[in-house]
Amino acid sequence: AKARHFKWEISNMFWSPDCGEKVVIGINGQFPGPTIRARAGDTIHVELKNALHTEGVVIHWHGIRQIGTPWADGTAAISQCAINPEETFTYRFVVDKPGTYFYHGHYGMQRAAGLYGSLIVDVAEGEEEPFKYDGELNLLLSDWYHESIHTQMVALSSKPFRWIGEPQSLLINGRGQFNCSLAAAHTLGAEQCAAAVSRQCAPVVFSVQPNKTYRLRVASTTSLASLNLAVGNHKLTVVEADGNYVDPFAVDDMDVYSGDSYSVLLTTDQDASSNYWISVGVRGRPPKTAPALAVLNYRPNRASRLPALAPPATPAWDDYEHSKAFTYRIRARAGTMQPPPATADRRIELLNTQNRMDGYTRWSINNASMVLPATPYLGSLKLGLKSALAAARPAETFDRGYDVTRPPANPNTTVGDNVYVLAHNTTVDVVLQNANALASNVSEVHPWHLHGHDFWVLGYGDGAYRGDAADEARLNLRDPPLRNTAVIFPYGWTALRFVADNPGVWAFHCHIEPHLHMGMGVIFAEAVDRVGKVPKEAVSCGATASALMAGDHL
Ligand code: C2O
Ligand code: CU
Repeated sequence: AKARHFKWEISNMFWSPDCGEKVVIGINGQFPGPTIRARAGDTIHVELKNALHTEGVVIHWHGIRQIGTPWADGTAAISQCAINPEETFTYRFVVDKPGTYFYHGHYGMQRAAGLYGSLIVDVAEGEEEPFKYDGELNLLLSDWYHESIHTQMVALSSKPFRWIGEPQSLLINGRGQFNCSLAAAHTLGAEQCAAAVSRQCAPVVFSVQPNKTYRLRVASTTSLASLNLAVGNHKLTVVEADGNYVDPFAVDDMDVYSGDSYSVLLTTDQDASSNYWISVGVRGRPPKTAPALAVLNYRPNRASRLPALAPPATPAWDDYEHSKAFTYRIRARAGTMQPPPATADRRIELLNTQNRMDGYTRWSINNASMVLPATPYLGSLKLGLKSALAAARPAETFDRGYDVTRPPANPNTTVGDNVYVLAHNTTVDVVLQNANALASNVSEVHPWHLHGHDFWVLGYGDGAYRGDAADEARLNLRDPPLRNTAVIFPYGWTALRFVADNPGVWAFHCHIEPHLHMGMGVIFAEAVDRVGKVPKEAVSCGATASALMAGDHL
């Protein structure tokens, strides 16, 4: 195993992700940030300098469990203090498991400002993947708003609420086209993009040789959009999800929710005289954003040669049966399976609702909307500061009589720290329950992401979870996939299981950036007394800084 060193400088810069110039948060002058590539077992060192003028920053390594290094998880107010302008902070952590990952800002809505990049972990030297391929293509998917994240954050926390709307563009590897179409010839009334679109927004060209197999690494770091990916005339065979091998299955198109990552195999067995479109469109919300396109360029055709076929159409946004069929097919790969413990020590049931609070709109979990403290939990809990937690712990369950099919009868909610304290090595079940939002006949998809762990996705159900024999029968204890992100479908529930074997303080939240901003999350404080030495510079702020100055030791 190697140590891999990176030196990063994070700054605001002008960029034209969808051909219109805006300000993005870049790394070393690049957008998206540089790709980190390593082998399983390597130690990554990122020496990060914050060159934003007036804002703190942190970076979260999405999908990396941070075993033994919870202080490197990069969650502001949870695992560390935000890094101040002109300060440098070094993340040091082991990438223990091969897979497709990414990293992103985790302070306010900085991810939506473009602070993200790919993190790819190959198998350790001398090891092999359980599938073969000749080449690799990397697709980091995101969405893009023309309003700054500052405007967005103010809008979302205004009274009355101002919804930020749908993103203006979808991006593939940071490139999209607003207000024009690369495939205008196939879209009635669409305007053809100028031939010489700038380098920053030109469509990504993936060049391939005919009759080979490619591994597409696909990850979504969208702020809002749930996506669907398809490649004209080609099948996709799913082999990896969130850094875990899955039982291979072939599809014509695949859903990718924010926080998801996949590897899919594609064989270039189509008419080699043509190029093909790779198309990414919106699911789960009435789409107001044009699909993002990239070119699959069969060599030796010229890359600029437009595909003969129209881009594959995205399935209807509300065809949830199509989405469920895809999601339910994901199972652990035989031979790589780690079956979950047969029973759990604790079950936490989390009702997701949209609510009002003093005229503000919020998302709540068991009727408490998450707010983060001034002092990061990892420091305050490690030092045992009395001020770390509120007086009461959040509810373990919700009222069985709650009608998930209607807007909340009493829409009022309160704020909470939403910290669940987990005992070391206990097996924890989490049931996420979806419900109707404030407006009638609206229930959205929420992709929930867990830090510090993978969980087994035991099962899904429609309607209210009852925990009865019928619900139990829906659970898969034989070959459930291990993941770090799982969706709840509209009006449905999702059951997860994990073992609390990684001391630290871990966020568990909806990966939709505005939803998290509006309180849609909880925190797992896991055996914090067992956390090893926390570097002082990670938590020297707020009440922890005062305690350290008074002589306390981490
Ligand atoms: Cu990728 Cu807490 O997020
Ligand atoms: Cu959400």
